[in-house]
Formats: sequence, structure tokens, C-alpha cells
Amino acid sequence: MTSATAVAGTNIALVKYWGKRDEALNLPATGSLSLTLDRLGTRTRVAFDGGDGARDRVTLDGAPAAEKVAARVTAFLDRVRARAEIATRATVVTDNSVPTASGLASSASGFAALAVAAARAAGLELAPAELSILARLGSGSAARSIFGGFVEMARGSRADGTDAAARPLPEGDGWDVRLVVAITAAGEKALGSTAAMRRTAETSPYYDAWVRGVDGDLAAARAALGARDLAALGAVAERSALRMHASALAADPPILYWNPATVAAMACVRALRAAGTPAFFTIDAGPHVKVLCAARDAEAIAAALGEVPGVLRTLSAAPGSGARLVEAA
Ligand code: PMV
Repeated sequence: MTSATAVAGTNIALVKYWGKRDEALNLPATGSLSLTLDRLGTRTRVAFDGGDGARDRVTLDGAPAAEKVAARVTAFLDRVRARAEIATRATVVTDNSVPTASGLASSASGFAALAVAAARAAGLELAPAELSILARLGSGSAARSIFGGFVEMARGSRADGTDAAARPLPEGDGWDVRLVVAITAAGEKALGSTAAMRRTAETSPYYDAWVRGVDGDLAAARAALGARDLAALGAVAERSALRMHASALAADPPILYWNPATVAAMACVRALRAAGTPAFFTIDAGPHVKVLCAARDAEAIAAALGEVPGVLRTLSAAPGSGARLVEAA
């Protein structure tokens, strides 16, 4: 039996990924750019030990994983087994450092940690770009969590996805930014990202415009990163998030992830900015608001967001490292 344990931080996109050019391989319709976080993540142990005989045994946050989650893990492990030419079922034990019920549990850190642990436990020697491609097959955003700090995901153009991998952006190394998260609801999101992306691509009159705008946002974000210009990076992040949500809002039926506290938190960020604190929001496929800021302002921003009606609590995270092995036997 071989086993391995890996950890990965989640990542938050500043230039969003919203739409696939191939759903089976999770190939993105556009590139994206993100920040990997230190405190919010996943630890996963994989052992190819026979599982429970017929199936993989999957434990999530101390309890047997729901059928849907277990099926997604097995589908991912099947790819690893095919590549390693093994058939053995596995035991997977995975823990998120953020309670799953907070609605923040991320497939990004989950599949990045699973990719690193499963590849190693199966005896595969994969370079970081190959791990990124493998993680992408679990969840598009997971490709980015293989790397630490600021990361860019390539759209790629090949049909087999061998050029759709993430890469680190070293120009962002050491930049002491923070991401303050305002949690505005408990529980799971209403509509998963895959279904929402599909509906947006198929029915939103704004989808093509969204896709056309991303390359410009990526160029602006890279330039802002090179110049360490928080206001410029923040402006890109806000418009990318709002354009992503605008495309989803225009889908049929419409996709609205926000609640009143989401909007109030955005207003809070704008008010802070008007009063002289550089703070910039982004929002993913859920109601929470994530605020990019300088380390020195994070505490005051978290306090202000904590006062917003409907904000349940806040978390603050710094740039973190990429996914890595912490044990192998
Ligand atoms: O990795 P997925 O399939 O859950 O997609 C993530 C989509 C967003 O979080 C909304 C945007 C992004 O780039 O992470």
C-alpha cells in the first residue's frame, strides 16, 4: 500500500474564469488570474489500500462524503488509476480548514490537494504543470491552487487540454496584500459553477461579450501586478467580477448569487475607498464578498465589514504557498 498526504490553499480569482470550451476536460473558455491563500484550504490523505472493497472510501470533514462528492472523487481517481495503470480502490480522508457549512468550502483547494496526494500515492512523478492539468480535471479553478501567490491560468488551444495549465506569476512574490472575506450566508450555494457556466454560455446574450473582455483584463492585471499597483489591480478585479455576474444575471433563467448583505458589503467597500482606504471587492459563485487590500488595512476593513447588516463573520487570509506533499509512505 502507498499513501500520501497533501495540503493546498484555496484561491480567489481576480480575473474570473466563467465558461468552458470543453466540459468533459474542464477546459476554460478564457484564461484567469488568481491569488492562492494561506489560511483557507484542504488537507487530503490518499491511500490505495482497496477502499471498502468495491468502492473508494471517501471521508470529508470527519464524516462519510455525500454520494455526489464521493462520485466526483472516484471519477478523478479513475483518471489517476488509468494513468498509473492500477485498479486498486482508495481511501481518501479530506479536511477543509473552513467549515463546509460556511458555503466557502472550495473545490479549488480540494482537487489541488487530491491531485498532489493521489498522483504520489499512485506512484506517478508529475511536474507542477502536469499536476495543474490533473487538478483542472477535478475543478477548473483547482489548476491554479497547485501554485502559490499570484497565478495565471492559460486558456490553451489544444483539444486535449495539454496546454491548459496554470503558472505562477513571480512578479507578485512578496507583495503583502490580504483578502478579507465577508461571509453573508450559511450553507451551500444554490447552483454549482458547472451548471451555471453552461447556462450562461447557452442562454446569456452577454456571454460572448464577457469572453471577449477577459484578455484585456488579464493584460491589465499582469501590468498592475508588475507595477505593484493595488488600485489598478483592484479596479480590474471589481470589473471582472461584476462582468462575470452580469453575464450570469442575463442568463435564462437568470442566475443571481447575491443576497442583500452581498450588496451592502459592496457598498461598504466603496465607502471605505471613498474615505481613503484602498479596498476592492470580488464575488464568486455565491453570496460572499472577498476584499483585496493592503496588509495594514485588513483589520480595519474586516471590522467595517463585520458591522454590515447580514454579514455573519469575516476571515482574513494572506498569500499562501502552492499545493504540496506533507507525508508520503
Ligand atoms: O472551479 P470551478 O468549476 O468551481 O469554477 C470557479 C468559478 C469561479 O469561482 C466563480 C471563478 C474562478 O475563476 O474561480
